[in-house]
Amino acid sequence: MVPTMGALHEGHLSLVRRALSENDAVVVSIFVNPTQFGPHEDFAAYPRTEVRDLALLSRTGAETAFLPAVAEVYPPGDDTRVVPGAIAARLEGAVRPGHFAGVATVVTKLLAMARPDAAYFGQKDFQQLRVLQRVARDLRLGIRIVGCPTVREPDGLALSSRNAYLDPGERRRAAALSRGLFAARDAWADGERDPARLRDTVARIAGDAGTPEYVSAADPVTLEELEHRAERAVLSLAVRVGRARLIDNVLLGMDVAQLAGA
Ligand code: PAF
Repeated sequence: MVPTMGALHEGHLSLVRRALSENDAVVVSIFVNPTQFGPHEDFAAYPRTEVRDLALLSRTGAETAFLPAVAEVYPPGDDTRVVPGAIAARLEGAVRPGHFAGVATVVTKLLAMARPDAAYFGQKDFQQLRVLQRVARDLRLGIRIVGCPTVREPDGLALSSRNAYLDPGERRRAAALSRGLFAARDAWADGERDPARLRDTVARIAGDAGTPEYVSAADPVTLEELEHRAERAVLSLAVRVGRARLIDNVLLGMDVAQLAGA
């Protein structure tokens, strides 16, 4: 299964292709989930492009799309939530209270409805990937949560449905997020292991896009912030660029494939 909120782009299609290459059948869900948006977030404005999405999916070879109605996912009187633990409290979870309970709840419901063997998610939403891997492990769902590499524009900008909110000037500035992350990744390759210096490198360069809401160097398994030298890390940040709130990350010292089951 490839769960999505639609407004599909090459990042989603790379998940579909990967799922098709590893499974006999793939279902792609398109559902803009109301419970993962805060009261002042972009639920109403979130791009809805279903006709185009379905055409892209059929061109990619995905034979089954699942577009449930809100009442199918949240039946009248629905009053049960999946609330992830500490891994969901920091970073995006601190800035977007309730967001990961909404994500964990809807993904658990979608998986319960489709009953796949595996579900595919992009590394771009790294904390979401880790939260869902913990949910699947802790609730004994028996479903593999597979993380797949981020797909990027030629200038490094991570593909995201929210890039559609950027005007041309903002779009140019937005490349500073990945420039900052890649500069820190180069420093890591040259032997830099001090998390504070890695964070400073990201913040200094990504600052060209806007003031970061956070810049983090964390353990990729627990997402606890690193205080001391470490041999693996995930560097991540969130920056508001115009109307868009953009997030991105790079993994250092390990690969996204190594996180399965962690
Ligand atoms: O990443 C997304 O598009 C959404 O958060 C997801 C996983 C489909 C849940 O609504």
